[in-house]
Amino acid sequence: MNEPQTFRAAGRLVDFMRQADEPGLINLAAGVPSPEALPVEELRAAFARGFAKEGAGMFAYHHPEGDRSLRALLAARLSARGANLSSEQLVTVTGCTQGLQLLLSVLVQPGDIVAVEAPAYYGLLELLSVAGVRVLPLPVANGDGIDPAQAGPLLARWKPRCLIVCTALSNPSGATIPEANRERLVELCRAHGVRLIEDDIYGELVDSGAPKTMLAWDDGSTVSYVTSFSKTVSPGLRVGFCVPGSLHEEYAARKCQQDLHSAVPTEVALREFLESGAFDPHLGRLRERNQHRRTLALDAIARAFPAGTRVTPPRGGYMLWAELPRAIDLAAVRDAARRERVVFASGAVFFTQPPERTCLRLNCAKATEPELKHGLATLGAILSAAA
Ligand SMILES: Cc1ncc(COP(=O)(O)O)c(C=O)c1O
Repeated sequence: MNEPQTFRAAGRLVDFMRQADEPGLINLAAGVPSPEALPVEELRAAFARGFAKEGAGMFAYHHPEGDRSLRALLAARLSARGANLSSEQLVTVTGCTQGLQLLLSVLVQPGDIVAVEAPAYYGLLELLSVAGVRVLPLPVANGDGIDPAQAGPLLARWKPRCLIVCTALSNPSGATIPEANRERLVELCRAHGVRLIEDDIYGELVDSGAPKTMLAWDDGSTVSYVTSFSKTVSPGLRVGFCVPGSLHEEYAARKCQQDLHSAVPTEVALREFLESGAFDPHLGRLRERNQHRRTLALDAIARAFPAGTRVTPPRGGYMLWAELPRAIDLAAVRDAARRERVVFASGAVFFTQPPERTCLRLNCAKATEPELKHGLATLGAILSAAA
């Protein structure tokens, strides 16, 4: 039903985060990369270089909008994806979570309408539920994400305050919006006075290279962009950034009210990491690893899950979205799987209204390869028995 509604989030982020580092689990639930895939050596060297250059400055108060040279590097990288930015247009943030939260705090009041993908990242849904907004779900189709032809009439009818989209390898659907649809969505939002928030946290994980950003078709009046390095370099660094566009002044002020500025040592280390040229070779290895893991997982799913299970192979990343052919009580499956030490994310937590199909999100990068195969075989057997 495509009508805006207030809702209570079905999952609790804090429970997912507690489970993420629980020992002894085959964790197919978490939205995190494996610690094995992090560029630890390069980061160690980056911290050392940063400390040698900055000395005590690395531990002092800093500019509220973030390290200037880091912002220059980030602006140049995003400009290569069509954005044409200067460093002054960026504000660094403590993870994409803070980036999104600050945008919401600047933009929405309780009762406002916010359009999101259905399904959408559960952390975002929890933020929206706490903000007391009405959520307008926009259906996501076949690997290409929100379809402008379907979204247009809904945006025209409901005129939401903003539309929040994870534009590449969306969590959880895996969809990546094609270039022509990106331009069309920016035009639609502009025409209907809707602020378009691009969450690009997975953009750099697209196998064929990061796509053009939505900023490429905007002058700052319609699009705000947010991302972090949690999925590409390290979630523990907690470094992200936002390009608020015409909301810049309010956004920077709100950021400063919230925590003065983000942590300096991690910004300096990320700056050194990027400056050393370590990022692109690391991304190459990560994309290859993710591709290999997806192949293993798709193969295991095809063999063990109920016949008719649908997974649209995403264009990169490490998450798979599986739609089951029949309704299954996933609460019972979750309990049975947990007894075998296997955990997964039930699809319902990614929706604001009960979904039409039974879905699961599966992380194929966190467990070891033998665990991944065993975990999916175990889960497939439980699902098949329940089907
Ligand atoms: C789509 C999306 N946005 C934001 C986040 C939060 O990112 P961060 O760890 O940088 O706060 C996640 C994390 O899973 C995500 O999947």
